[in-house]
Amino acid sequence: MHNIHLSNGIEMPVLGFGTYLIKPEDCAQAVEQALACGYRLIDTAQAYFNEAETGAGLVKSGVPRSELFITTKVWISNAGEKQAMQSIEESLRRLQTDYIDLLLIHQPFGDVYGTYRALEQALSQGKVRAVGLSNFLNGRFIDMAEHFEVKPQVLQAETHVYNQQRGMRAVLKDYGTALMAWGPLAQGRPELFAEPLLQEIGARHGLKAAQTALAFLTSQGICAIPKTLHKERLEQNLQAADVTLSAEEITALTALDHKYPPAAADFNDPELTRFLLSYSDKFKPA
Ligand SMILES: NC(=O)c1ccc[n+]([C@@H]2O[C@H](COP(=O)([O-])OP(=O)(O)OC[C@H]3O[C@@H](n4cnc5c(N)ncnc54)[C@H](OP(=O)(O)O)[C@@H]3O)[C@@H](O)[C@H]2O)c1
Repeated sequence: MHNIHLSNGIEMPVLGFGTYLIKPEDCAQAVEQALACGYRLIDTAQAYFNEAETGAGLVKSGVPRSELFITTKVWISNAGEKQAMQSIEESLRRLQTDYIDLLLIHQPFGDVYGTYRALEQALSQGKVRAVGLSNFLNGRFIDMAEHFEVKPQVLQAETHVYNQQRGMRAVLKDYGTALMAWGPLAQGRPELFAEPLLQEIGARHGLKAAQTALAFLTSQGICAIPKTLHKERLEQNLQAADVTLSAEEITALTALDHKYPPAAADFNDPELTRFLLSYSDKFKPA
């Protein structure tokens, strides 16, 4: 598997393990299993309520800290410089580490300018190695990138064969920002696993449709962070990053873009905005 070279010189694996919706009681074991398989990038978030279990899995794995690439995200309820700074300390404690490899602002809401200042501060203090944004699309991303001296090194956004973010990728190029694909398997959408074009192109490389969907991303230098609790799938997903699709195959797969509506939330939807703004510790599993 190759690494992506971030704009500040940090190396980031092109494929990692996502922990969204992994229950706290399953998370330490899931992280340990992923690391035993060979994963080194683990993606979590304050709002997943599994940072502590992720940290436990990281420690229990015995993998040296220097080999790990830990990503987490500051949630809206911790927005603002002072509160975000405090929440970063809490994330460090839960993750049982002195530094976070990549720290993102999870959603484009709340005092995002204050939060980004906290990210810059954490970066200068060595508590974080790279910073970025999640779900800040187009105008929202450009606003932040223009506003701050430290350009986001990574944008995490919904990206997969049905939502290829081609316009966004052109914007990211201008700022040297790498793309990290959340939902790289379209969040398990059944159509993806049965997609004839993915099956056909995959067959040429001995890949299943899911693996081809991941190779489509990693072959283009897009970091993918699929989630699975199954060992066999973990291994399959990791193997996908070793296959490079040809330029012709990638071009052929652009035909799938927008075949289905995005899984992601429309961040201009008033109802979703209200829901996200209200999402805080009250959603923490009992
Ligand atoms: N920044 C954000 O707002 C945001 C939003 C969503 C997600 N994320 C991050 O991105 C990560 C990935 O996204 P996601 O978990 O939503 O969706 P995803 O990785 O695209 O899809 C996960 C689904 O695909 C299934 N799956 C995984 N590998 C498979 C394979 N090889 N064959 C068949 N099925 C397979 C999983 O089922 P099983 O588990 O049953 O195998 C699960 O149902 C998250 O875990 C999280 O870390 C970030």
